[in-house]
Amino acid sequence: MELKFEPTKNPKHIPTPEELARSRFGTVFTDHMLIIDYDRGKGWHDARVVPYGPLSFEPAACCFHYGQLVFEGLKAYKTKDGRVVMFRPEQNMRRMNDSCERMCIAKIDESEFLEAIAGLVKTDSAWIPSEPGTSLYVRPFIVANEAFLGVRSSNSFIFMTILSPVGPYFTGGLSPIRIRVEDKYVRAVPGGTGFAKCAGNYAASLKSQEEADAAGYSQVLWLDGVERKYIEEVGGMNIAFVIDGEAVTPELNGSILPGVIRKSVIELVKSWGKPMIERKISIGELADFHKAGRVSEAMAIGTAAVICPVGELKWGDNAMKFNDGKIGPVAQRLYDEITAIQTCDAPDKFGWVYEVK
Ligand code: COI
Repeated sequence: MELKFEPTKNPKHIPTPEELARSRFGTVFTDHMLIIDYDRGKGWHDARVVPYGPLSFEPAACCFHYGQLVFEGLKAYKTKDGRVVMFRPEQNMRRMNDSCERMCIAKIDESEFLEAIAGLVKTDSAWIPSEPGTSLYVRPFIVANEAFLGVRSSNSFIFMTILSPVGPYFTGGLSPIRIRVEDKYVRAVPGGTGFAKCAGNYAASLKSQEEADAAGYSQVLWLDGVERKYIEEVGGMNIAFVIDGEAVTPELNGSILPGVIRKSVIELVKSWGKPMIERKISIGELADFHKAGRVSEAMAIGTAAVICPVGELKWGDNAMKFNDGKIGPVAQRLYDEITAIQTCDAPDKFGWVYEVK
């Protein structure tokens, strides 16, 4: 795919490490963005890197009405020897196509689109921060933009990618977060869109998130939407526990997002010669294990958050506390090893690093 390039005439100020540390996650954007158009009959065409800026859509564009929109999230890093790398981006491209399939969005050519994203990242590589815990967050997304009001799939789409230099997702960095178990709303049901990274899943979670925020919790933990019993995922990330010294995470069931960091954690733990158990785990079972002193750690795992220890999980009147409100040894080791591979401070023994050339 030929990638055209229109450089910005007004380069912006690149945040200093201090400015970046003061900014909130995902609020600063680089100078350029990637756009690729799709029209039924013509396929994907006109890949271009252009100055970051507003877009023009007809008010009748169907994305505004019916939410036909999928997205991804991945990260790019600058290594100590000056190379630019991305972490497992081919996993994101594959998942994007799985989301497209579910949402009736035109599929992408995974390797061609990845090369186009790499072209954008290379263009704005001066924006990649290098302080510990920072990265360039890469946000590809696809929007349905045909103008009509009937309910059907669009005949045209726009694939875009924008870039944002970021620090930790949670303002406290690696400090343990408090999570509330959601018992009023549901996120996903079998046969729904839970496994897809579609905008509507996130819009539907906002009410619950706002109520949890107001009660002093930074995230919610979703239970399955049928029995309201089995642990699924945290709003924007997966979850894992250490029970009797073994790492456990809910098994994928079609309503849980198959996270790239989740997959990496499973592979990493297995490489330590330890089991990582994927199974159904009910909140009641977790509470019983916790009461018996068998749950030593809980952690949220995701691209934006990487590994974030959970200090407290509130389920009704039961406030389960983990590891005295401190990061535990498993979460710390996972964080250290994953971030070291991401930044190439450790050897890439799994072939997870994609070099932008
Ligand atoms: C990510 O981890 O990349 C996500 O898309 C989740 C969102 C909460 C930022």
